[in-house]
Amino acid sequence: MSLTYNKNLLDIDVYKPGQSSLAGFDTVIKLSSNENPYGTSPKALAAYKDCTDKLFKYPDGSANDLTQTIAAHYNIDETRIVCGAGSDNIIELDIDQIIKAINNKTKIIFLPTPDNPTGQYIPQEKMQKLIDALPSHCLLVIDEAYGEYVDAPDYKSGLAFADAYPNIAVTRTFSKLFALAALRVGWGYLPPIAAEALNKIRSPFNVSMPAQQAAIAILKDQEWITDNIVKNNQQRQKMVDYYQLTGCRFIPSQANFICLIRHDAEKLNQFLRSKGIIVRMMAGNGTPELVRISIGSDAENKQLQVALSEYFTNIAP
Ligand SMILES: Cc1ncc(COP(=O)(O)O)c(C=O)c1O
Repeated sequence: MSLTYNKNLLDIDVYKPGQSSLAGFDTVIKLSSNENPYGTSPKALAAYKDCTDKLFKYPDGSANDLTQTIAAHYNIDETRIVCGAGSDNIIELDIDQIIKAINNKTKIIFLPTPDNPTGQYIPQEKMQKLIDALPSHCLLVIDEAYGEYVDAPDYKSGLAFADAYPNIAVTRTFSKLFALAALRVGWGYLPPIAAEALNKIRSPFNVSMPAQQAAIAILKDQEWITDNIVKNNQQRQKMVDYYQLTGCRFIPSQANFICLIRHDAEKLNQFLRSKGIIVRMMAGNGTPELVRISIGSDAENKQLQVALSEYFTNIAP
């Protein structure tokens, strides 16, 4: 008998990450992966480099120092934190559809807020409505990969909900605001029983030593954190102003990207590529009219606007 695998996997495509290069360009403006455009903080970088003479050692399998630093930073219970190699999500529904879809077989619901690719967040009142409709056997996992960027006054972090309800978990990542995507580090804040179960099944050294050290250093650098949130949100507003001025349809976002709604999405994509700008097309998600564009630095956004204006003036149908 030859090797085979579960046939349910046949319908799943291999994940395609945002492209990083374009033929004919030495440097590109990469606005396709929602990375932090300002780079890793010097303190996190120093902590990473400090590990070079310890690479022969195994990392702390429980990521104790990192767990304690996360608990102190977010003022949460350290026994409910499980660290891992990045976090993940794939769900895009709204709340009423989710409530309708819940039945007694539903065991887990994944909910990103802000959502990817739309950038929309779930206001506190709506989240409460969902939680009130949640059966006690069902675990709600709130994915807050972009949570730090939210400045909407009616947003309440999932961490607060997770403290108040027994069946809510939250996932967070160091890949976005914290600018450590290459190191693969994220964490979950889980109901105690789920933390216990996850600690039994996760691989023993799932976060590397340099990743742990860099993550600890960045969480202690509050000045850098605040500065990076402010810069993103100012640039996000500038892009919103630009889209409003030019009449380009977009989805209001609370994250570090904005999705454009364009019937000419692929044509726009090709034009931007011809200018050395890489954005993220969403056809693979079943939404071919969406073009997700990460919020870049001031210089990158200015170049993006120049390219978009040329497209809107000379090419757009
Ligand atoms: C909503 C959301 N959750 C999770 C992730 C995964 O982040 P990580 O790098 O921690 O795997 C992403 C990455 O783009 C994301 O957009």
